[in-house]
Amino acid sequence: MTTTLYKKARIYTPVDEGRARGGKKQGQLACFPDGALLVEDGTVAALGPYETVLRARSGQPPDAEIDCGNKCLVPGFVDPHTHLCFAATREAEFDLRLAGTPYLEILKRGGGILSSVQAVARASEQFLADVTLERALTALRHGTTTLEIKSGYGLDQDNELKMLRAIRQAAARSPQDIVATFLGAHAIPEVYRGRSDDFIALLIHEVLPLVKEEGLADACDIFCEEGVFSIEQGRRLLRAAQGLGFRVKLHADEVHDLGGAALAAELRALSADHLLAAHPDNLQRMAAAGVVATLLPVTAYSLKKPFAKARQMINQGLPVALATDCNPGSSYCESMVFAFGLAVLLMDLTPAEALTAATLNGAYALGLADRVGSLDVGKQADFLLLDGESPSILPYHAGVSSVQEVYKKGRRVV
Ligand code: NIG
Ligand code: FE
Repeated sequence: MTTTLYKKARIYTPVDEGRARGGKKQGQLACFPDGALLVEDGTVAALGPYETVLRARSGQPPDAEIDCGNKCLVPGFVDPHTHLCFAATREAEFDLRLAGTPYLEILKRGGGILSSVQAVARASEQFLADVTLERALTALRHGTTTLEIKSGYGLDQDNELKMLRAIRQAAARSPQDIVATFLGAHAIPEVYRGRSDDFIALLIHEVLPLVKEEGLADACDIFCEEGVFSIEQGRRLLRAAQGLGFRVKLHADEVHDLGGAALAAELRALSADHLLAAHPDNLQRMAAAGVVATLLPVTAYSLKKPFAKARQMINQGLPVALATDCNPGSSYCESMVFAFGLAVLLMDLTPAEALTAATLNGAYALGLADRVGSLDVGKQADFLLLDGESPSILPYHAGVSSVQEVYKKGRRVV
């Protein structure tokens, strides 16, 4: 067993009490200004004031001691919502949106998600794995030690499975924990136009069982939106997925309030994501059902939309998580640091609330909080050293990343 003591660190971490933290608890952190973190074989063995941690070792010196130079030490970021397995960027569409064409209008004309579907259809599994890994490593340099990646640019059996296998390959080559989500219901493929019920039936009866059989995804997601999939279709697909043992989540109430948040509560989903247009009553239902609100501020920023009402959600007791939503359409951004900055400066989260959102609540949104998301004894030693005194450095030092060193399972990876 090797033990390493990281000392002279200003440690800030949410504390895991067995559920995602909302309300007043979202902003409560454990802080140790002269802190030490003891890592044993990649796992957190102790943390607290330096003297206390040393005493807990009853005089036994660790194998190594590392002086953190009074830098801030926080848990690695958990990004619970990305689409970073894609084949090509969409600059032309970005220009169209800048000129005033709405996001959903571009999709209606066969662009948007559907143009990414064409690019994925032309790409090999190997190419997709390589570009996915490259983007995951960019996220790692910005402090993301655990992330979710969705399929959803395949929209047919072969291409959805190709994406999921590419994600699996990227996961095997990255130091991060990467979990895959099946998002076959991301858009209605051209050949199913006007027959979206048939497409949902295909996913339920043909594709989902194969995804299960090959163990290619942990969760199932759907884009419920006007002109895309209805709440009823979401209920049908996600219930079937639950029947096969998948966890479920959804893209809910992003542009229109269809009641996605209420469906998430009904199904006790891991999370409901976006929620820009969600009704407060349905948010209350989510809070009661223990569903995490995963907010994607970079998407609102990129689409020039008003941000989700994060302040109101937290005040309602709803646990908020932050994610990048990294994708080639509505949010081309791998950086949780940027999402963190937007959350603090434009959504009125405190830096402490944003830290909980970017770490522990994201871990709950992935069902991985038993292993990651906070510096609690027994969890993986996934942590970051920031070039500053407190997590406030992240939004305060704008336009750059204050993440200086990244550790995954106790090993320095950046
Ligand atoms: O979460 N809203 C749907 N899906 C993605 C966008 C995907 C794309 O435009 O390629 C999102 O914003
Ligand atoms: Fe998304």
